[in-house]
Amino acid sequence: MCLLALETSCDETSAAVIRNNTILSNVVSSQIEVHSEYGGVVPELATREHLKNFKSVASEALTKASCDIDDIMAVGATRGPGLPPALMVGWKAAQALAYSINKPLIGVNHVTAHLYSPWFSETLNRKYLDNVEPNISLIVSGGHTVLVKVNGSLNHEIIGQTKDDAAGECFDKTAKILGLSYPGGPEIDRLAKRGNPKAYDFARPMLNQENDDFSFSGLKTSVKYFLEKNSSILFQDDKLPDLCASIQAAIVEVLLKKTVRASRRTNLKCITISGGVARNSYLRSEFNRECANRGIELKITMPDMCTDNAAMIGLLANLMHEKGDLSNSLNEDIEPNWCIN
Ligand code: KG4
Ligand code: ZN
Repeated sequence: MCLLALETSCDETSAAVIRNNTILSNVVSSQIEVHSEYGGVVPELATREHLKNFKSVASEALTKASCDIDDIMAVGATRGPGLPPALMVGWKAAQALAYSINKPLIGVNHVTAHLYSPWFSETLNRKYLDNVEPNISLIVSGGHTVLVKVNGSLNHEIIGQTKDDAAGECFDKTAKILGLSYPGGPEIDRLAKRGNPKAYDFARPMLNQENDDFSFSGLKTSVKYFLEKNSSILFQDDKLPDLCASIQAAIVEVLLKKTVRASRRTNLKCITISGGVARNSYLRSEFNRECANRGIELKITMPDMCTDNAAMIGLLANLMHEKGDLSNSLNEDIEPNWCIN
């Protein structure tokens, strides 16, 4: 018997099948091409794409898992946070399916699913979330930058978050200023590999404030003003890798120093990182280096599960189902502004 999970909170249509804490399939249909000409996600287009694709994505997930409708013992889906019309597609489909096959529906918080995704490992022979140690967790995505104190499995509290743009949003917006294609995060990561992170000194907002909050809009503005004053740089192709490496270094330095500071203050010697920006190669290597030097255990979500996917939703839904936390989701509505729960 298996659990079918659906995720449509932003611009990825995804379905996964989970059995006994194992991911049997995880199909992700990305809408990058649809949104790239607009330089960001257009909610109405995202919704249309979800409507067009979710049926074939869900069928493919079931086929890959060798499951059919009769094998589904529960349905899980993202209830929030996310773009309201996009969320609505997956959530309403999940409600209709659960109702028609008379099985429970589990509503999952998308950010909480990111938060616990570093604990899934295909190689370790243990159940998902069986051995969650107290840790400081950084969730860095296109919509969220949150620092969380995790006391144990599904026991956590937010200690800080961004006051304006999310880290992924900062990658995407500065990439747009540089004329790179959407989404800019992976483009900056790729170009920065050939650049010097110390070439330009961009703002590191809130770095020296003794709190756990972040701010990234000032960094975006400092890049914008710098390029307005030095516009010729944009026409010199050889300068692009240095610009990318310097922007990336500024974002990662703030994330790294503030996360490590929270770990020291709380005396928690374990750090976890999740969300789309956790795919960034420089972030992964900088955290690895710093944590190794300081004797801090580091767990970063495996690269394929950093960006939005239904497997992380399914793993959490499966756990909630095992714990009997069904909270009668058949009668609930989407929660577009849901905080981590
Ligand atoms: O978690 P996610 O798929 O969606 C949200 O829940 O927001 O994260 C998407 C974000 C985008 O801003 C994208 O640019 C960023 O993750 N991202 C990266 C990389 N891969 C994805 N940012 C920096 N470096 C990357 N390699
Ligand atoms: Zn996400």
